[in-house]
Amino acid sequence: MEAKLVDNFGRQITYLRLAVTDRCNLRCQYCMPAEGIEIVDRKALLTYKEMYRITRVLSELGVNKVRLTGGEPFVRKDFMNFLEMLDFNDLLDEINITTNGGLISKHLERIEKLKVKSINLSLDSLHRERFKTITRRDEFDKVYKALEELEKSKLNLKLNVVVQSGINTDEIVDFVALTKYKDISVRFIEEMPFNGVGQKQTSEVWDYTKILNEINEAFSDIEKLEDKKSSTSRNFKIPNSKGSFGIIPAFTRTICGDCNRIRITSTGMFKNCLFDDGVFNIRDFIREGASNGELKELFLSIVAKKPKNGFVAEAQRKSEVSESMSSIGG
Ligand code: 5AD
Ligand code: SF4
Repeated sequence: MEAKLVDNFGRQITYLRLAVTDRCNLRCQYCMPAEGIEIVDRKALLTYKEMYRITRVLSELGVNKVRLTGGEPFVRKDFMNFLEMLDFNDLLDEINITTNGGLISKHLERIEKLKVKSINLSLDSLHRERFKTITRRDEFDKVYKALEELEKSKLNLKLNVVVQSGINTDEIVDFVALTKYKDISVRFIEEMPFNGVGQKQTSEVWDYTKILNEINEAFSDIEKLEDKKSSTSRNFKIPNSKGSFGIIPAFTRTICGDCNRIRITSTGMFKNCLFDDGVFNIRDFIREGASNGELKELFLSIVAKKPKNGFVAEAQRKSEVSESMSSIGG
């Protein structure tokens, strides 16, 4: 049996989040400044071949699930071809995609033929004008259309809602209400300072507990669901609803104990934790001629040092958290 990726706390890594680009068609306020982030030169991005190879090697070490993120994955040229190529990897059980939905519609039929099980659609408001304020782009109609198409498709649909103090907290209850008659899972995400600028000052902190209290006040009878091991969200439903909802303690970081994830950014930076500042550049290692055996050695030794949790990872950083989620990969 081949070695597996296990860290010093006994956690096995089975899940890779791979950012295929740092570019995006939107400019969400909590992700980047209005003028966008300084995007990297094309040559600095991993090529699809490099991404395929890295994923293959990781899958031989036990990774069986990949999430493709960005930036916005559908912005990168030939993304659909890459998706189909990745689908050939027989060691992967599941490929999922996080997208803002603006460009996905015309590809749905092709996606349904692959081992893509679920799509995470980022949507922070159900109102067109507010969506425009948050994303700085007038794309609500397109995204909502994608939501409806995804709902009809055989793919599972999760809505990612970043809870932003003073911006969309009055819609938390509306989003939960959506799950009554739509077979979707709405997940509320605590806002993090990955916005290209750094920690914001807000008068109210909308953390896990405050979000749950808000929901409990509106619906007196929510049920706790069983969470899958290594799930990033704590999940609930309102009785007799078609869908469910969850809360992701992205910032309070109470879910690190059974973390099974690693990340690779669009430039090939390996991250053991969302909150670390990148531990090794795989792209350079590959371009210097590393063999698959050497890549495996490297991955095994890096993963062993995965920090215990997101606070430890943050404390070990050289700089404060301020990079954009678009370059890290969500
Ligand atoms: N805080 C929390 N979530 C964020 N995302 C992007 N930036 C942030 C942030 N600063 C979310 C996106 C997307 C997911 C990949 O990450 O909305 O749904
Ligand atoms: Fe694009 Fe997602 Fe960042 Fe919004 S949050 S700008 S959709 S990468």
